[in-house]
Amino acid sequence: MSLFKLSPQTLIAKKGKEVICGITAYDYVSARLAESAGVDFILIGDSANMVMLGEEDTYSITMEEMLLFCRAVARGARNTLRIGDMPFLSYQTSMEQAIENAGRFVKEGKCHGVKIEGGAEVVPLIKRLVSFGIPVLGHIGVTPQKSLELGGLKAQGKDFRTARELLSSAKALERAGCFAIVLECVPSDLAKLITENLSIPTIGIGAGPFTDGQILVFHDVVGLLPGFRPKFVKSYINGFELLKSALEAYKKEVKERAFPTKEHSFSINLRTLERLKKKKT
Ligand code: KIV
Repeated sequence: MSLFKLSPQTLIAKKGKEVICGITAYDYVSARLAESAGVDFILIGDSANMVMLGEEDTYSITMEEMLLFCRAVARGARNTLRIGDMPFLSYQTSMEQAIENAGRFVKEGKCHGVKIEGGAEVVPLIKRLVSFGIPVLGHIGVTPQKSLELGGLKAQGKDFRTARELLSSAKALERAGCFAIVLECVPSDLAKLITENLSIPTIGIGAGPFTDGQILVFHDVVGLLPGFRPKFVKSYINGFELLKSALEAYKKEVKERAFPTKEHSFSINLRTLERLKKKKT
C-alpha cells in the first residue's frame, strides 16, 4: 500500500466525485471489519469513552487510552486511512502540549492525521500542525467536548446567528488547512450550504444527505448497544441481540454437555492411555 493511498489527500480528491464513507473503530476486530467492508477512512473517536469504556460522555478519556485504541486499530486496518481524535484537554492547555500530543497520534498511534473539535479558537493550532505535516480533520456543530457549555448535544445552527457562525468557522478551518470537516448535528440545508462553500469535503453525522461524506459510530451501525439511539443513527443489524443469542446457545450447550463434541476435542493414542491407567493403579 503506497503512503499516498493512506493520505487524507485522497479524501479531498473524492469531493464532487464520490461520496466518502467513514466509520469509527476502536479495536482490532472493529478495525478489521471496517477495512473488510472497504470504508474510505476510520476515525478512532473519543466516543470510545462511551462505547468501549462505558462512560456517559467523552470528557474523561486520556491520551494513553486513545493511543491504545489507535494502535489496536492500526493492527486491524493497516491499509485504511486512520484519523485519531484528540481528547479533551490534550490540545487546549498550550500550543507545545497540543503539538506534542498530535505528534503522538502519528508516532505512537500510527494515525495519518488527527481530528480536533472547535472553530476559530483552534485555527492557530491547526495552522501550526499542518505546517509541520500533521493533517487535521476539523469538527464543528455539536462538539461533545463542549457539551457542558452547549447544554447537551442539541442540534446547532438552527438560528441565523449560530448558522452564520458555523459557516464562517467552516471557512476558517478550510483556510487553516484542514483536509475535511465533520459537521455534527446541523440542519441539512445548512450542511448543504457549508458543503457548497468549501473546496474540502464535509463529513456529516446527523447533518443530512447533502454533505460530501458520512460517518457513524461502529457500535451504532451494527446495533451493539441497546437503549437510546439518536435520530440520525441507522443500525443495519441488531448486533446486541444476535451476539446475545449466540452466547445463550453456547451457555445452553455447555450446561447440557452438548458442547464440546468429539469434533472440538483432541485425542490421545489408546495404548498410551492404557499405559497411563496401569501406572496409576
Ligand atoms: O468521537 C467520535 O466518534 C466522533 C464522531 C461521531 C464524529 O467525533
